[in-house]
Amino acid sequence: MAHHGLCVARADGRVVFVRHALPGERVLARITDVSHDRYWRADATEILVASPDRVEPPCPHARPGQCGGCDWQHATLDAQRRLKATVVEDSLRRIAGLERAVRVEPLPAKADDGLGWRTRMRFARTPDGGVGLRAHRSHQVVATPDCRIAHPSLAQVIADPVFLQGPAAPERTGQAVDLVATKLTASGTTSDAVAFSTGSGSWQLVRLRPEDGLEPVAPEAGAAEEPVEVAGPAGVAEAVEVVETVEGRSFRLEPGVFWQVHPAAAATLVDAVRAAAAAAPGETALDLYSGAGLFAAFLAEAVGPTGRVIAMESDEAAVRSAARSLADLPWVSLRSLRVTPATVRGLIGGSDRQGGGVDVAVLDPPRTGAGREVMAALLAHRPRRVVYVACDPAALARDVAAAAEEGYRLTALRAFDLFPMTSHVECVATLEPA
Ligand SMILES: C[S@@+](CC[C@H](N)C(=O)[O-])C[C@H]1O[C@@H](n2cnc3c(N)ncnc32)[C@H](O)[C@@H]1O
Repeated sequence: MAHHGLCVARADGRVVFVRHALPGERVLARITDVSHDRYWRADATEILVASPDRVEPPCPHARPGQCGGCDWQHATLDAQRRLKATVVEDSLRRIAGLERAVRVEPLPAKADDGLGWRTRMRFARTPDGGVGLRAHRSHQVVATPDCRIAHPSLAQVIADPVFLQGPAAPERTGQAVDLVATKLTASGTTSDAVAFSTGSGSWQLVRLRPEDGLEPVAPEAGAAEEPVEVAGPAGVAEAVEVVETVEGRSFRLEPGVFWQVHPAAAATLVDAVRAAAAAAPGETALDLYSGAGLFAAFLAEAVGPTGRVIAMESDEAAVRSAARSLADLPWVSLRSLRVTPATVRGLIGGSDRQGGGVDVAVLDPPRTGAGREVMAALLAHRPRRVVYVACDPAALARDVAAAAEEGYRLTALRAFDLFPMTSHVECVATLEPA
């Protein structure tokens, strides 16, 4: 198994990356891409010798040439986790020269079937007015009105004509709509709702009624815990907030701001990061690539008012969201800045009169990783511990190798199945001075 859920196969001496296959299988494959000299791409269309890990995909759209959303609907969940573990192990071995056995931990879920978990999704409009997901490595939108990994609230919305023909559905073919499963509290009662945004910069809302489907939100309604002003076409609420709660702490999210897509992911990662960081009262902690301030908030609780947290994030909307959610933690300094070698080097000092060093650092970079230069700038502060949250095992391995050059070694690694049915895996790595 290579990265991205592709099996490495050989045909006539050439490497072929095969989708829809599993290690050990013999398949008939249709070549889909011959544009590279060194390798081709293919889809397994017929399984001649099946792996014992193979199952019938629960989703009708997880087929060659169809939806590109899931990679591994055709494998048991247990096999998916074993394969993710081998991908992390291989990356560490090949790129960082480290031998380490990895176990991928499942997340708490009502049913561990890998379905109905995804609470945040981006769909696009199909030519005939429905919504769907993109085909693998393609702009083509495949109708997925019955997406099986979508949270039931999202599934209800994308299959409902009230939404699809309503004033807020995407108008143009290919136009995207972001959906988030949330709760609506109005007049003292809470009901399931879905917030959506078609890129207007604000969330709108539909309430889900168990008896007869969707209801555009009435003007006096509010989102989450607070009443809000609403207006707009057909009684659809505008400018509502999406509020995520982790351990009783609320995070207020503007559209487009990063938040994990599995409902148990944020709490699971907070637990793992907090335990790995072991920040103590009075310490200075960094949160790089801090998004809406998830880790900064819990680091701030750990270091307390005698300590401080410096968070750095380039998305202004995320920094605004964090500022509102962490207003009760004034010892968090939120910096609306790109993480670069220069900004990380200058984190402490200059206009920062408090001085002192960095005790603990958390970083949660995008898929490309932090990079050698940022790692070097960060480790020049000599934190006693670094917790690296990684959504890409190869980027993690590159940055672990860069850390080794600065005298830091990998002392712990946990991996989590935040994205069942896909080949994605999330790691929480601890680095300490060697
Ligand atoms: C994987 S998210 C992590 C967010 C947060 N830690 C969380 O768990 O919700 C990565 C974040 O890095 C931000 N980002 C990407 N490149 C960046 C850069 N060069 N400097 C600062 N932030 C960046 C993105 O906007 C995003 O919010």
